[in-house]
Amino acid sequence: MSLYVVSDKEELTKLAYHMILGVIHSKKEVTLGLATGSSPEGIYEMFRKSRPDVSHVTTVNLDEYIGLPADHEQSYAYFMKTQLFDHLNFKETHIPDGMNPDHEAECARYDAILAANVPDLQLLGIGNNGHIAFNEPVTDFELRTHVEELTQDTIDANSRFFETPDEVPTSAYTMGIKSIMEAEQILLIAMGTSKAEAIKAMVEGPVTEAMPASILKNHPNVTVLVDREAASLLEAVQNSSGGCGGGCCGDHHGSDNHSSGGCGSGGGCG
Ligand code: GLP
Repeated sequence: MSLYVVSDKEELTKLAYHMILGVIHSKKEVTLGLATGSSPEGIYEMFRKSRPDVSHVTTVNLDEYIGLPADHEQSYAYFMKTQLFDHLNFKETHIPDGMNPDHEAECARYDAILAANVPDLQLLGIGNNGHIAFNEPVTDFELRTHVEELTQDTIDANSRFFETPDEVPTSAYTMGIKSIMEAEQILLIAMGTSKAEAIKAMVEGPVTEAMPASILKNHPNVTVLVDREAASLLEAVQNSSGGCGGGCCGDHHGSDNHSSGGCGSGGGCG
């Protein structure tokens, strides 16, 4: 896992955008795994402004609330359509169907899509409780697409997007950890102090199903891009007098979790 601490959200967004663009330009056929939430919004804005050709790019999204139709303003289908899909010429886009009442059939349908479209790069945010996609603690690392009951933490965090907390869906279809780990490359982004504890646990803690994002340490090609606030609880940041703005980097591997100090092989951060 290569960790990069940058000074702010703007710098983080630009780096992430250029890294994704590099993947888009790297091959004739590309699959991108995309994420929702506020963290990637700046990246999608950059896509809307520069409108690169993506006619060779297929996208697969991580998750969708169960019970929200695609035209509901808080559905992830609506988010993706308005933020990105309406503005660029993607070849194909895929997202779980939150209105399919047959959970088994929907999970099988989505797993077939994922089997045929393994992401060259999977973009991830992280929940305050360390979830990735909607894989909540304690998650089974072996699961593929499944229905996840959302934790109260997640319902509370996501209630900011709904008029009343009662409207927040309590379950979701989510890509499982097993599929996320099959992506060729993973880019996790996090900004703000609300993510600091999750980032610390992911980077410095053990690989455990109680901290879903910790599994990423077992993936061979993960870049973690965080701003100073999200990095504020990391030992390397706390021990450095001037803070780590502008490129405090390290490699963090598996359960031994060492830090090399120098810049790792993140690809795209320089
Ligand atoms: C949701 C999504 C996650 C996302 C997380 C963080 O729960 N299912 O994929 O990473 O929120 O969202 P935000 O970026 O808004 O903090």
